[in-house]
Amino acid sequence: MTYRSIKGTKDILPSETPLWQFAEQTIRDVFRQFNYKEIRTPVFETTSLFARSIGELTDIVGKEMYTFQDRSGDSITLRPEGTASALRAYIQNNLGESLPLTKVYYIGPMFRQERPQAGRLRQFHQFGAEAIGSPTAETDVEIIAMTLEIYKRLGITSYTLQINSVGDEECRPRYKEVLRTELLKIADKLSAESQKRISQNPMRVLDSKDENDKALTAGMPLITEYLNDECKAHFERVKGLLTAYGIPFTVNGRLVRGLDYYTKTAFEITSTELGSQDALAGGGRYDLLVKELGGKQTPGVGFAAGMERLMMILEKKGFQPPAQRPAVFLAAADEQSRDWVLKTTMELRSSGIAAECDLLSRSLKSQMKEADRQQAQFALVVGAMELETGTAVLKNLTDHSQQQIPLGTVAQFFTR
Ligand code: HAM
Repeated sequence: MTYRSIKGTKDILPSETPLWQFAEQTIRDVFRQFNYKEIRTPVFETTSLFARSIGELTDIVGKEMYTFQDRSGDSITLRPEGTASALRAYIQNNLGESLPLTKVYYIGPMFRQERPQAGRLRQFHQFGAEAIGSPTAETDVEIIAMTLEIYKRLGITSYTLQINSVGDEECRPRYKEVLRTELLKIADKLSAESQKRISQNPMRVLDSKDENDKALTAGMPLITEYLNDECKAHFERVKGLLTAYGIPFTVNGRLVRGLDYYTKTAFEITSTELGSQDALAGGGRYDLLVKELGGKQTPGVGFAAGMERLMMILEKKGFQPPAQRPAVFLAAADEQSRDWVLKTTMELRSSGIAAECDLLSRSLKSQMKEADRQQAQFALVVGAMELETGTAVLKNLTDHSQQQIPLGTVAQFFTR
C-alpha cells in the first residue's frame, strides 16, 4: 500500500519552500516595521471557543470544522482561523494589563473542511494580525495599510480593496429586521441556501454567490443606509483616512464576510489574478468579541490572508526567490582525501559557511556534476597531492575562473 496526502492538503516541496520562506520573511519584516509582535498559539482548541466567536450559524462552524473527541471525551477543534485563539491567549495571559494596545501577528496552518479547488484547501496557511485595545478608525486603517504594504513589497498591485460597515449591536438588529421583511417578500424565488438564511442570518443572503439570488436582491436596502451616528462617523473617518493615505477603495454595502464577530468596519482584498476563490485577505473590527469570550470589554481589529493564494500569484508572475545553494562543494580526488574533505566540510559549516561534499562515494567526475547540480558557487578539488603541497585549486563555477588557495585559508576566503 502506498500512502497519499489527505484530500485538500498539500506538501510544500523543497523546490517550493524558498518562495514560501522569502514571502514569510517579507511578511515578518512588514509586521516588525509596524511594531506587531508574533504570537504562536496551539493548532487545536476547545470547540466552543470557535463556535462562540465565529458564530454557530456560519458555514465554518456549521459544516467546515475539524472537530473530534479526544481520549478524555473533550470536544477539540483544529483552528479554522487565528483570531479566536489570539483573543483567548490575550485574555488568558492578561496581555492587556501592561499595554493599552496589544499588537500581535501570526503565520501558520488553519483547517477547514471545504470542497478543495484551486486556492481552496483543507489545511491552508494564513498570516494575520490583531490590534487589541483600540476603538479608533486610525487602527482600522493601520491594519488595512499594513496588509496592502505586504502585497506592495512583494510586487503585487493587481488587487481591489472593498470596505463596508456592518454596524453594531444597536443599529444592526434594526437593519436585519428591515432586510428580513424585504427578503420574505421574494423568499420563494431565492435559492434553498438563501431561504434558510433569511430567518437567522439575513445579511448573508446579500453575499450569495447564486446569480439568480444576486439579481433578485440587487435593489435591497443596504446596511450603510441604517448605521447609527457612531458607526456612521467611524465609517466616514475610515474612508477619510484611506483617502488621505492615498489608498484606493470601493465601498461594497453587500460585503458581510463569513464570520459573525464583526462590528463596524469589514474589508476584503480580492485579486483578478486568482480564480473563483479570489479573496486574498479579509478582516475587520470586532468590538464585542473579547467580552464575548469572557474578557473585559475591549475593542479590536485585525485581518488574515491566505498564503497559498499569495503563492499562486507570485508563481504566476514567475517570481524567483534567491535559491538555497552551497558556497562551496569540496570534492575528493581520491580515496585517501575523503576523510580530510569530510572533516573540513564540517569545520567550514561550523564557521557559518554553507559547504557540501559527497556522501555517496562517487567518482571525482560525478562529484563535480553534483556541485553543478547543487549550484555551488565554488568547488575545491583536493587529492593526495594537494594535501602534500598544502594548496588546491578553487574553481568558481559561475565564471569558471580558477585560483590556487592554501588549504589553511579556505575558511577565511569564504568569511572575509
Ligand atoms: P477569512 O476571510 O475567513 O478571515 O480568511 C482570510 C483569508 O484566508 C481569505 O481571504 C483567504 O485568502 C484565506 N483562506 C480562507 N479559507 C481558505 C481555504 N480553505 N484555503 C485557502 N485559503 C483560505 C479570517 O480567517 C479572519 N480570522 C480574519 C480576521 C482577523 N478578522 C479579524 N482579524
